[in-house]
Parts: sequence; C-alpha cells; structure tokens
Amino acid sequence: MKLSAIKADITTLRVDAIVNAANGSLLGGGGVDGAIHRVAGPELLAECRRLHGCETGDAKITKGYRLPARHVIHTVGPVWRDGRHNEAGLLASCYRRSLEVAADNAIASIAFPSISTGVYHFPATAAARIAVRTVIEALPMHPDVGEVVFCCFSDKDLELYQSLLDASAI
Ligand code: AR6
Repeated sequence: MKLSAIKADITTLRVDAIVNAANGSLLGGGGVDGAIHRVAGPELLAECRRLHGCETGDAKITKGYRLPARHVIHTVGPVWRDGRHNEAGLLASCYRRSLEVAADNAIASIAFPSISTGVYHFPATAAARIAVRTVIEALPMHPDVGEVVFCCFSDKDLELYQSLLDASAI
C-alpha cells in the first residue's frame, strides 16, 4: 500500500481513477468538477446523465474519456453547515465508498481531491484528518487498491496532508 500527497491539477494524473467532488445531480459544476468535465469532454456528461444522480456520501463510477485517468469516481461531499449535521460522517463515507467502488472495478491506483473543502466550505484541517484516517482504516479491506494519492491544489493543503501522512508513519 502506497499513500502519498502531491500538489497537482487532478485532471493531469495518469492513474486508474480520479475522484470527482461532485454535487448530487452529477451534471457538472465549478471547482474540480468543472475542471474534470472540461478535460473529459461531453461524453462524460452523457454518461453521468444515465446515472440519475448520487446521494451525499455515496460514489458512482464512469469512464474517463479524454482524461489521462481511465475512470472517474464521482462522490458527493456534504455541504458544511455547523458540524452538527453529520458532516464528518458523510465526508468519511465519501472516501470509504469511493474505495469500495474502486475495488469493485479492479482499480489499483486512485487520486482524491480534498472533497468538500472548496465551494462546500468544510474546514480544511478537519477534512484532511478525516480523509487520511478513513483511507488508512479502509485500505486493508481492499488489498488490490495499491496506490492512493491525495491530490492537493495549494501549498497549504500539501503541507497539511504531508504532515498527517508523516504522523501516520505511512
Ligand atoms: N485539481 C485538484 N484539486 C482541485 C482542482 C483541480 N483541478 N480544482 C479545485 N480543486 P471544490 P467541493 C480543489 O469546490 O467543496 C462544484 O461546483 C479545491 O481547491 O471543487 O466538494 C460541484 O459541482 C478544493 O481544495 O469541491 C459541487 O456543486 C477541492 O478541490 C461543489 O462544487 C474541492 O473544492 C462541490 O464542492
């Protein structure tokens, strides 16, 4: 099992699957979702339409089309309200379900963005702790998912993930 953090645009990564921080419609939006649809092309939206949305905390898979990644796993993070609306539980579920979907589809390498921490305003430090902890807990159940990349979009996020990974001694 290999866990790492990098700073990159997730649409450039040549992995088996990149994870999209989508909304419940799965029909595109801003942020990382907009970037993924722009690079993947209109075929991605056409496949997403056939999925009929996704619940918060769940994940669904499509092909990657014009992306270097072979697949996109679309997950829907919680909108941060006040921390008392199961936001942490739902965010952990996004990471768990994405790994389950990956394992079901023979995906060996997967890259996650920092789900819910942009437009959805989940506090970045708490979100990164949940991301790292949930992935470390879930990976032993999915031995064929050999590589997980936390794809950060800022130096600050990269430092945060790097320090959490260092502290976890992975
Ligand atoms: N590569 C990697 N990370 C990125 C990229 C990129 N190209 N672009 C942004 N990020 P956000 P959310 C980071 O807002 O908070 C959409 O409209 C960004 O800096 O994309 O889950 C959807 O349709 C941040 O750290 O997702 C939903 O409506 C992280 O990705 C809503 O936004 C997540 O920010 C979902 O909001």
